[in-house]
Amino acid sequence: MLDKAVCYVNGWLQSYRYRLGVSQKYLQWCSKTTNASWWHAYAIKHRPWRPHVCVPCEWITQMVPSSAHVFEVGCGSGANLLWLQQRGFQRLGGSDIAVSAIEMCDLLAKYYKTRINTIVDDALNPRFRPEKVDVLLSVNWLYHIPGASLEDLFKIYGECVKPKGYMAFDCISSKYNAMPNNKNHTADVRLPMEKRRPSEYTFRMTTGEVERCISRYGYKISKKRELRTFPPRNVFIAQRYC
Ligand SMILES: C[S@@+](CC[C@H](N)C(=O)[O-])C[C@H]1O[C@@H](n2cnc3c(N)ncnc32)[C@H](O)[C@@H]1O
Repeated sequence: MLDKAVCYVNGWLQSYRYRLGVSQKYLQWCSKTTNASWWHAYAIKHRPWRPHVCVPCEWITQMVPSSAHVFEVGCGSGANLLWLQQRGFQRLGGSDIAVSAIEMCDLLAKYYKTRINTIVDDALNPRFRPEKVDVLLSVNWLYHIPGASLEDLFKIYGECVKPKGYMAFDCISSKYNAMPNNKNHTADVRLPMEKRRPSEYTFRMTTGEVERCISRYGYKISKKRELRTFPPRNVFIAQRYC
């Protein structure tokens, strides 16, 4: 409860920094035209209240020049890429499995009179892998996929990043395992136990587990922050050292 309140207040305090200044009317038009899930318009409007995406993006602006090539897997309608574009980044690309999300991203890029190199692709079984990127961004999608793991991300994309380049990602903290109802879907807490779906947060990790996993792929943690979100998350920037 306290974490939700902290996240809410922080969102307001950081709102000027993290929001995307797209008009509500255009956003609704994009949603309707592409038939993208309602979540995308919601996520763009409420971006400042999603620190697990804002903090890694902010770190990217601090750690690499705006000439860097950034590719986001599971990019949705491109809220993070568009935010980076507004901070001067031009070499941006992203993939998502949903055609409608990619169409919405393309329409939003038009709004900003820019282009993002998007592709519809299953990021866990990709037809396309970016090459020699400076930063590979992966936030708020992997831990929603049943059976997926952080290991998959590094196995598939670890070598797409230039040596000394970065992988920016978020993870559900293993602290969530000790919280009430963590095994159930958060939307089902008021339902009788037998009617509840399994949690939408499919894996959770300690920092030690993250460290051990990424080291097998030649990465080490450069930055880490524990976020007071619900569920609790950790965000990381890992650097490729070999
Ligand atoms: C919760 S949204 C997050 C979007 C974006 N990362 C953000 O934080 O704004 C999750 C996205 O992952 C995408 N997705 C799910 N499974 C995927 C897969 N196998 N490959 C690529 N994208 C996938 C969904 O289509 C959706 O757009």
